[in-house]
Amino acid sequence: MSNNQYTAQENYERLLQNNKQFVVDKLQEDPAFFDKLSQGQSPDFLWVGCSDSRVPANQITGTDSGEIFVHRNVANIVDINDMNFLSVLHYSVDVLKVRHIIVCGHYGCGGVLAAMGRTHIGMVNHWISRIKDIYLKHEGELNAIVDEKERGDRLVELNVTEQVRNLAKIPMVQRAWKKRELSIHGWVYGLSDGLLKDLNVVQEDLNDIEKIFQYENI
Ligand code: CO
Repeated sequence: MSNNQYTAQENYERLLQNNKQFVVDKLQEDPAFFDKLSQGQSPDFLWVGCSDSRVPANQITGTDSGEIFVHRNVANIVDINDMNFLSVLHYSVDVLKVRHIIVCGHYGCGGVLAAMGRTHIGMVNHWISRIKDIYLKHEGELNAIVDEKERGDRLVELNVTEQVRNLAKIPMVQRAWKKRELSIHGWVYGLSDGLLKDLNVVQEDLNDIEKIFQYENI
């Protein structure tokens, strides 16, 4: 939400002003707050969310600095050709040893809705084209939903579920499963009520994914 009571320049400067207040507030709560954070991080969670400005990981989960390692892209996609994502996954799973990975989509996701349509917007269409494949995979169920908004909401859920499955197919994740506990969860955030919904599509074991994706020699 842009803040209309400010000019664009004031709106920009507001961020730096807010930062000063943030430091004051944090030090008031805990004088050692920044000292502790500067020592290092050991978050329990990796968050794979949408870039949408309305879905800030820490704010909606009531967590603080240092608690969630975050990767966000348009429509929270797990792409095994995305070096950025794979680097985030590697660092959080193999080095930080997070215990949970949360894929969090959101209802009304512009990326998912665009994938349902046939308008070419540009570059982003390439990125979200795989969501069309998810649509086709569940075409029967989706086409049976008459209300377009409801159909979009269901595709948001199916996209999250598919991305959770994509994570389970990655050798890096399967290697971690051989050694320790690591749960992958699928959530959807409601923009209109602020609530998170757990889709209960947890993957936490090699046997949770179909056999053809289970590597034998890792
Ligand atoms: Co979105």
